[in-house]
Amino acid sequence: MTDLEVKNVTVRYKNKIGISKASFEANDGEIIGFIGPDGAGKSSLMHAIAGVIKFEGEITYKGYTYYSPKEAEKVKQHIGLMPQGIGLVLYPLLTVKEHLEFFTAIRNLKKNDEYWEYRERLLKMAGLYQFQDRQAGHLSGGMQQKLSLICTLIHKPKLLILDEPTTGVDPLSRKELWEIVDEIRKKEGIIALISTGYMQEAEKMDKVFLFEDGQIIAKGTAKELEDSVKDYTYVETDCKSLGVEECFSFNKRTYSLKPLNIPHAEPDLESVFFVHALKKLKHIPEITVEERETEIEIPEIVMEAKGLTKRFGDFVADDHIDMVLKKGEILGLLGANGAGKTTFIKMLLGLYPIDEGELWLLGRKIESYKDRLELKSKIGYVSQKFALYKDMTVRENLIYFANMHKIPTAKALKRINKLAGGLGFKEYMNYLPIELPLGINQRFSVAAAILHEPVVLFLDEPTSGVDAVARAQLWKLLHQLKQKWGISILITTHYMSEAEYCDRVVVLKQGKKIVDDTPQNLHQKFLDAKSFEDIFIRFYEEESLTKT
Ligand SMILES: Nc1ncnc2c1ncn2[C@@H]1O[C@H](COP(=O)(O)OP(=O)(O)OP(=O)(O)O)[C@@H](O)[C@H]1O
Ligand SMILES: [Mg+2]
Repeated sequence: MTDLEVKNVTVRYKNKIGISKASFEANDGEIIGFIGPDGAGKSSLMHAIAGVIKFEGEITYKGYTYYSPKEAEKVKQHIGLMPQGIGLVLYPLLTVKEHLEFFTAIRNLKKNDEYWEYRERLLKMAGLYQFQDRQAGHLSGGMQQKLSLICTLIHKPKLLILDEPTTGVDPLSRKELWEIVDEIRKKEGIIALISTGYMQEAEKMDKVFLFEDGQIIAKGTAKELEDSVKDYTYVETDCKSLGVEECFSFNKRTYSLKPLNIPHAEPDLESVFFVHALKKLKHIPEITVEERETEIEIPEIVMEAKGLTKRFGDFVADDHIDMVLKKGEILGLLGANGAGKTTFIKMLLGLYPIDEGELWLLGRKIESYKDRLELKSKIGYVSQKFALYKDMTVRENLIYFANMHKIPTAKALKRINKLAGGLGFKEYMNYLPIELPLGINQRFSVAAAILHEPVVLFLDEPTSGVDAVARAQLWKLLHQLKQKWGISILITTHYMSEAEYCDRVVVLKQGKKIVDDTPQNLHQKFLDAKSFEDIFIRFYEEESLTKT
């Protein structure tokens, strides 16, 4: 008997199909990866299987068939669903400990030795062991994500459905999370359906399903999917100089549907996204940013922090941090969950008062609210949590932001249209944010932050949960903003490969700065490191070795 059988499952929304006629089988002990661009149907299928939305078709788990959420009630005790989005299942006023108590109670779990041992492991994996009395609302984004995850895992579900559980989760915790999932899989023989934007994770799965436009368009091992795009993957070259239309270059590779007279390169799983996007669109639109409409004088040093410190009670979230951001520089701010990145950016923006230290922005020492007010029109910010209005459409949100910055309406509409085209969300202009996948929301959050043509841009995890093609486009946009507008960018990310696109990186650990260097210099220091992720993990681990 097959343990899980999904037959012709279709999910319909008001005016759109979420997933169409998806079928697959899975057996205990298997981890299946759902990958594909934002809005391709992964979450719809997950929600149908978890029995939380209406669907057509049939799903059979361990011999019991259900056709609706109501019928799925019978299997719900076996299911653990973690929906996509930071902190969705959390209560901001409850502490970490209270969350675990709550989920233990609703799942009727017995608190025996095994339970306590497992609970402690989960807490340690999530880095929350020492923060059990902190309210969820006071946890960092990644810490909230990990709390949701351990609440989902606490009853050891037999059918584990995790929708992008590692979005916003740092590389070290991702490693530990995979060890835990692997262990429960081996010990308990569970089925795990996991969607992810980190392609290295898909390589750890037994099977990967590739989603596109509401369909599963390919199934196989990661290696098989990679092999299927071999013929289209080349060493990096300039598509324009070749005069080939169906061509896209990113991250040391060029993808082309037409044969090119240059050597092939080894594809990776991200290559699968680029080739499929080319096949679908024929031509992936290149991001083009036009010159600034208003010329502006930019000082050589855009931001200087001297010993910036933030405390929450006795806890020091940022501990005497020095940092400089130069004109036209892209500075990557890296660090594990809870390291103090968001808190630091919030101090720069005046969203948190500075407890100690000095801050200079655009040549001016920040001492009063008035100093900040005058700089408002020069700064753009994309927050880690979605910060636009949920009850206004994308277009209305953007118009509202333009009004706030006092951009005349005709000018604003023109800029909005240009950005929507350039960033690829034109077709979503009349949707509410809640109807859109995370990746698309992120793109229009960036558009809202640059509408007023700022000189400095603070981006807090703008690429978390964003698909490979959209991430590539976002980075192309940032590089163009740097070149054409001379904009300075401070960006946080947990995709360590993105560190390579920065001019310089600063790494924070437990509120302290431990690295401030160029990616090239760091590669020189760790010559045997295969990737920047390796370097990051080594740095973090070595730092702990020297400190304990
Ligand atoms: N209002 C608050 N009260 C108490 N502690 C807080 C508060 N806000 C943040 N913290 C704590 O400060 C630390 C730093 O949080 P911050 O959000 O800056 O981390 P981060 O580096 O952005 O992490 P992530 O990668 O998860 O987004 C965390 O331990 C967090 O719980
Ligand atoms: Mg953060």
